[in-house]
Amino acid sequence: MLADTEHVSRDELLSQLSLVLEDRAISATLPTACYTDHALLQYEINTLFRQSWVGVGRTDRCTKPGDFSSRDIGGVPVLLIRNQGGELKAFANTCRHRGSLLLKGDGNCKKIRCPFHCWTYDLDGRLVFTPRMEAVPDFDLTAYGLTEFGVGVADGFAFVSLDAAAGEFDKWLGDYSSLHAAWGLSQWVTTRVREFEVNCNWKIFLEVFNEYYHLPYVHPKSINRMYPEPDDADQTTGNYTTQFGTTKGNAALLSDVQGQAFSHAVNLTGRERNGTRYTWVYPNMTFAASSDSLWMYEAYPITPHRSLIVQTVCFPAETVVLEDFESRAKHYYDRIDTAITEDIPFLEQQQTGLSSPFAKQGRFSRLEPSVANFAYWYASRLSGFLG
Ligand code: FES
Ligand SMILES: [Fe+2]
Repeated sequence: MLADTEHVSRDELLSQLSLVLEDRAISATLPTACYTDHALLQYEINTLFRQSWVGVGRTDRCTKPGDFSSRDIGGVPVLLIRNQGGELKAFANTCRHRGSLLLKGDGNCKKIRCPFHCWTYDLDGRLVFTPRMEAVPDFDLTAYGLTEFGVGVADGFAFVSLDAAAGEFDKWLGDYSSLHAAWGLSQWVTTRVREFEVNCNWKIFLEVFNEYYHLPYVHPKSINRMYPEPDDADQTTGNYTTQFGTTKGNAALLSDVQGQAFSHAVNLTGRERNGTRYTWVYPNMTFAASSDSLWMYEAYPITPHRSLIVQTVCFPAETVVLEDFESRAKHYYDRIDTAITEDIPFLEQQQTGLSSPFAKQGRFSRLEPSVANFAYWYASRLSGFLG
């Protein structure tokens, strides 16, 4: 139960959230405390993160048996690992002996071995070896396997649910597949992953990626000219928002290197060959599916003012085998990094402004429908939990 916080009383927060909910046409932005308050962040983590399907990147981050990738989902260390049968598993990255973190970063292992006293688990999380425990009475290894979490896979994206309250994975995504099937994204291949931290709330980072309003002011010389006004956001039934827009030229490349463009993905037809779909799967994963490339971000809160961002870039399988793939892909990485480098100072400036005790709720423009959709989802979920 959330009590009054450092920035806002519970009643005031509920009334600000109800402003977001009561009339979609008014399109009120989220309460400013949601971007700055430590108690509220903890509440978001306990509810939105721990009771949702959380995006944890592409499944090909772990391809072979024993490949693993560790994550911190709102203070819960999680281990993603491919088992012997090729299935992607998720476990609490916490030893069942005295609780040490088991594995860090990414890598490959034959077994999951705790660095502290060598308790060892197989790739299905079963405890299989415990040195010098013979003298301990009634010690049954089978009772000390790793805690397992739910894993969902769609389009090559992996999701983890820490709590059954997230419900069934297919229900979480609703009609996601029908709007994304054209790209055949499950066949796309990750070619670059990098992580960085940003001095802004996790929501701020995801919001800017999903709106066109800022383009002429933040990206006037780089990407703005490629993005004419988009379609409206699609009506969807799942826990996500999505918006497609045609582009002038290839929006995944800066204008001086348009000649380096790869062919569009083989299965794409119609308008999708000449545009980009921006999708945000709530709460924390967003991507842009262009005709020939995919770039995505996972955002994880560290504090209300600081977030860990994981950036991933993918291309269709038929593109990554081209002889000159590496040299041409560099131009795509350059475009993606240029845009995000231009965004970040504005995001940090937004965080500073929002941190003022005088910051107040605003209104979304018609060019921010996906951000407004997220605000609505967030406000409904949070007020539901606050009840
Ligand atoms: S804490 Fe893992 S073996 Fe002791
Ligand atoms: Fe931007």
